[in-house]
Amino acid sequence: MKVILMGPPGAGKGTQARQIAEKYRIPQLSTGDMLRAAVKAGTPVGLKAKSAMESGSLVTDDIVVGIIADRTQEADCKNGYLLDGFPRTLAQAEALDTMLAQRKQAIDKVIDIRCDDEPLVGRITGRRTCSQCGEGYHLQFKPTKKSGVCDKCGGSLTQRADDNEATVRSRLAVYHQQTAPLIDYYRKQGNFSSVDGMQGMDQVLASLCAILG
Ligand code: AP5
Ligand code: MG
Repeated sequence: MKVILMGPPGAGKGTQARQIAEKYRIPQLSTGDMLRAAVKAGTPVGLKAKSAMESGSLVTDDIVVGIIADRTQEADCKNGYLLDGFPRTLAQAEALDTMLAQRKQAIDKVIDIRCDDEPLVGRITGRRTCSQCGEGYHLQFKPTKKSGVCDKCGGSLTQRADDNEATVRSRLAVYHQQTAPLIDYYRKQGNFSSVDGMQGMDQVLASLCAILG
């Protein structure tokens, strides 16, 4: 099963992808997570990606396409994967189609998590992530039992460098300009669905699972 999870920043791609990956036993491939790891490790890719990520603009297509081309060849992707945050431009979507056609493979489902812009600003600025296990939280919508400490592993919570209001607004603008057109691209391919991302997290998960079967 190869699935693309789309949606604006803060739509809940990461939140849902973690749970779907666990339930369906396929890896979650988040280009955002992979790029953040590269920035942290100071790799050549990380050095190239850092300033674009901090300003809320997109990293170049060749970098992310290269990351996905390599990652999807790894052993754990044999039975499928869930793409979170990729593709994000028409060029990335076309490169993915070409890559899969060469491998005689195809995407099974593309699901868009639909959201209104304004509530996403609050979701992003209130987001916290465990520095150890990566579990996601929200100060208001999914608080930890003990302030600043992960419920799952006891790790300390961190806030992403790009999770401030100014950057979120540019990420939303970039989304509408460069990523939203992919909805039409995939609708024409016939494997596209969407879910209402303004529901509670559990309802969004139920809607996604109803589509995935
Ligand atoms: P990336 O990491 O992909 O960020 P994003 O697309 O901006 O999306 P987010 O991760 O911010 O949101 P999410 O949808 O995962 O929401 P989450 O589940 O965490 O990309 C970061 C940067 O990397 C980009 O700006 C770009 O520079 C670069 N990049 C990455 N991929 C790229 C690509 N393909 N091409 C080029 N550049 C690329 O939820 C958010 C918060 O809301 C959480 O606190 C959560 O608890 C809460 N929440 C979730 N669902 C709900 C709900 N239903 N109700 C209430 N709260 C909720
Ligand atoms: Mg995410």
